[in-house]
Amino acid sequence: MEMQDIVFSHNVCDDLDKKLASAGYDKLFILTDENTSRLCYGRLSGCRTAAEACRIVIPASDVHKNIESLTQVWDELSRNGATRKSLLINLGGGMVTDLGGFAASTFKRGIRFINIPTTLLAMVDASVGGKTGINFAGLKNEIGVFSNALTVVIDTAFLTSLDSGNMKSGYAEMVKHGLISTVSHWAQLMDFDISRPDMTRLQELVRMSIEVKQQVVIQDPTEKALRKALNFGHTLGHAFESLALEKHRPALHGYAVAWGMIGELYMSHVRKHFPSTTMRQTIHFIKDHYGTFPLDCKEYDRIYELMTHDKKNADGKIYCTLLNDIGDVALNEVLDKEHVFEMLDFIREC
Ligand code: GLY
Repeated sequence: MEMQDIVFSHNVCDDLDKKLASAGYDKLFILTDENTSRLCYGRLSGCRTAAEACRIVIPASDVHKNIESLTQVWDELSRNGATRKSLLINLGGGMVTDLGGFAASTFKRGIRFINIPTTLLAMVDASVGGKTGINFAGLKNEIGVFSNALTVVIDTAFLTSLDSGNMKSGYAEMVKHGLISTVSHWAQLMDFDISRPDMTRLQELVRMSIEVKQQVVIQDPTEKALRKALNFGHTLGHAFESLALEKHRPALHGYAVAWGMIGELYMSHVRKHFPSTTMRQTIHFIKDHYGTFPLDCKEYDRIYELMTHDKKNADGKIYCTLLNDIGDVALNEVLDKEHVFEMLDFIREC
């Protein structure tokens, strides 16, 4: 897989028009969900190229990242005469870029697509790195393919319509990128106030974050080894996310990852001697901005069970990414029930 083409843009229309002019296509489609149709499409409506595009609008939110929405996209591409030379622009958060990328990658065995992420989470994570897919049979991202967007256009101006919760949700993935890269990167993230973000500074931090992800993905595009570094905080985080959903108090993905990072930082400290000062500083930052996951010890067994369903597991064991230090990852660390309970005790106590 080649290095993903990324455009850091200050004028999404100019950059999109330029990319499209050199891409060559016969028909253009723009996919949005109902939210990005309302809140973000306006930024594209002035683009020369967007004016000619056929629009596809799917229902918003992760519950619609499913086979029905996927069928809708295939159906509208088909009914509106898309060919193998057509191009799909995915304008939205991770739900739109994941589903749209999958729809494009499978339509007529694959048409090209451009991602224009509109949330912080999609900018620093979902839209970059070639993971596409949908949820299926109650499992997140169960069906999908690795397929790179032709280009990803990052314009942080879209973030002006993003609420604070979703800003912080995306920032958790940036903190993770800091932890797996360098002390200097991590320290800059700890110094930044994501609750009252300075947008100019955030733009630079977004660029740094995407660079970290790109460097990992180029070395291991299909997650055989190093890409598992990007799962730091997610083994426990996904279980928190699922539990929150079961209890009808859904948590934003990044919040669950932030709480997951507390447990996995602790386990990194216990098992891999991750420095306690760095652990404490990061946990302090997380607690300040994300609060804590409301956890009852009666839920420990369910959390453990949810962790056993993680698709990264093998041979009936839970595999987790830990850290020896900032930028020094320990892949494929096996967690047993005692480790999980110890992490949960730590989270409850701190
Ligand atoms: N979100 C983790 C990855 O792209 O591998």
